[in-house]
Amino acid sequence: MSNPVYLALDLPQLEPAKALVNKVKAHIGGVKLGLEFFCAHGGHGVHEIAHCGLPIFLDLKFHDIPNTVASAMQAIHVYQPAIVTVHASGGRAMMEDAKAAAAEGCKVVAVTMLTSMDASDLTATGVYGSAETQVMRLAELAHAAGLDGIVCSGQEVGTVKKAWKDGFFVVPGLRPAGSGTGDQKRVVTPRQARDNGASVLVIGRPISRAEDPAAAARAIEATL
Ligand code: C5P
Repeated sequence: MSNPVYLALDLPQLEPAKALVNKVKAHIGGVKLGLEFFCAHGGHGVHEIAHCGLPIFLDLKFHDIPNTVASAMQAIHVYQPAIVTVHASGGRAMMEDAKAAAAEGCKVVAVTMLTSMDASDLTATGVYGSAETQVMRLAELAHAAGLDGIVCSGQEVGTVKKAWKDGFFVVPGLRPAGSGTGDQKRVVTPRQARDNGASVLVIGRPISRAEDPAAAARAIEATL
């Protein structure tokens, strides 16, 4: 099995980001570039990172009218992303059009509810009911829309996988045994997440902030 670890490259400067990828690339399976990276470095930055030869996950969380999202999806073909995210709350038509416009082989996965939101934030946006109900509702909608999977926590992935057996599940918020949790609250280890059914393990600071990032990535790889 190929390495499921995608390094979350959340560094603001391009040169240190490239240097980090080059240090750890033998021990990871891909690189996740988010909105911050894309806004700061644009297509040039994506191409620079892609030179390392690893698959690229563009975590741009598209959310707009279906036509705009489909056009954005076509515009990113040039980066040949392996994985792209959209917001499930954009609705079924938006997700269907996003998937239809994605390049062959590119996984389109849905963000259900941002983990920064709690029940009161949900209510304030007009959504009543628990966060769990909302996550499951949006996961079903993403499935029905033909997406490949969703982003979910290492704790949720087992439950979600029971309902969506061939889903592609992207799991962030992971911490190797014995490391600090930072601002992540509900953490599981990379191994637990993989055993629970994760397809991709998104890991940032446990590698990027380690004294020896290559050794940290290698140690994580060895547990999988
Ligand atoms: O540094 P760390 O391993 O916490 O990085 C996790 C990555 O996954 C970051 O890029 C973060 O934005 C992203 N993410 C997350 N939790 C979510 C969704 C995405 O940590 N629920």
